[in-house]
Amino acid sequence: MKVIVFGASGATGKQVVRQLMKRQIKTRILIRKKVVLPNDIQENPYIEVVKGNVSELNDSEMKQLLYDCHTIISCLGHNMTLKGMFGNPRYLVFDTLKKITENVGKEQDKKLKLVLMSTTAYTNDLVQEKNSVGEKLIFSLLSLILPPHRDNIKAANYLVTEMVEEDERIEWTAVRPDTLVDIEQESQYDVYESPVRSPIFNAGKTSRINVSHFIVELITDDALWREWKGKTPVIYNR
Ligand SMILES: NC(=O)c1ccc[n+]([C@@H]2O[C@H](COP(=O)([O-])OP(=O)(O)OC[C@H]3O[C@@H](n4cnc5c(N)ncnc54)[C@H](OP(=O)(O)O)[C@@H]3O)[C@@H](O)[C@H]2O)c1
Repeated sequence: MKVIVFGASGATGKQVVRQLMKRQIKTRILIRKKVVLPNDIQENPYIEVVKGNVSELNDSEMKQLLYDCHTIISCLGHNMTLKGMFGNPRYLVFDTLKKITENVGKEQDKKLKLVLMSTTAYTNDLVQEKNSVGEKLIFSLLSLILPPHRDNIKAANYLVTEMVEEDERIEWTAVRPDTLVDIEQESQYDVYESPVRSPIFNAGKTSRINVSHFIVELITDDALWREWKGKTPVIYNR
């Protein structure tokens, strides 16, 4: 089993990489040139570091990155700076997902697992999730003024609406944490098919370490994967 992680230098991405290291899973990570990785990741023999910018890869570079990987994890997200939020690439997460799905080796008959780190701000209409009037108003406003929000919604929608029957070789799940927090230790958490609290008016907390634990459990535990593939699980700290 070999895994590739996009967004591995991010706050959640690093935790995902550490979970993979803990399980001694061979992992390739793509990070931007300027990134300085913590030593434990940089020096870990299970981690192969490739330098480059995901939004600048051409098709053949993407194919090269993916060719021997059975699992793809995206923890990409826009940097919370003016340039990160309002500059290019506007659709970092969506464009990457699209490029991935278009470039996984069509000639190979392997089944691929794809995990997207998404958000409870995504409403999955296909499982009849509904927002209150207030939530609808605020989500519409966020879509108007916050490009990263639009990107996250477009990326999750792409999986939910277009990957259903499009490509039988790719199985996916989009994990939706609520408000992300940094807590050092893993703790108990609950996973639901849909939000059980309002992401706007009564948001819960989800620690990044718990998100990373769930993601790596998903890709290593077949029963858990079967339970959540093709779905958009919501995760909260207990
Ligand atoms: N904040 C919340 O409460 C919340 C809740 C639920 C979901 N989410 C979503 O969860 C995801 C991950 O969150 P996080 O806090 O772990 O993210 P993060 O720490 O900001 O990490 C983002 C990752 O994306 C990479 N990236 C950003 N801009 C890039 C670009 N232009 N080109 C290439 N790579 C780029 C970063 O690389 P560099 O290190 O090189 O910058 C980093 O690896 C995000 O999509 C976020 O929207 C957030």
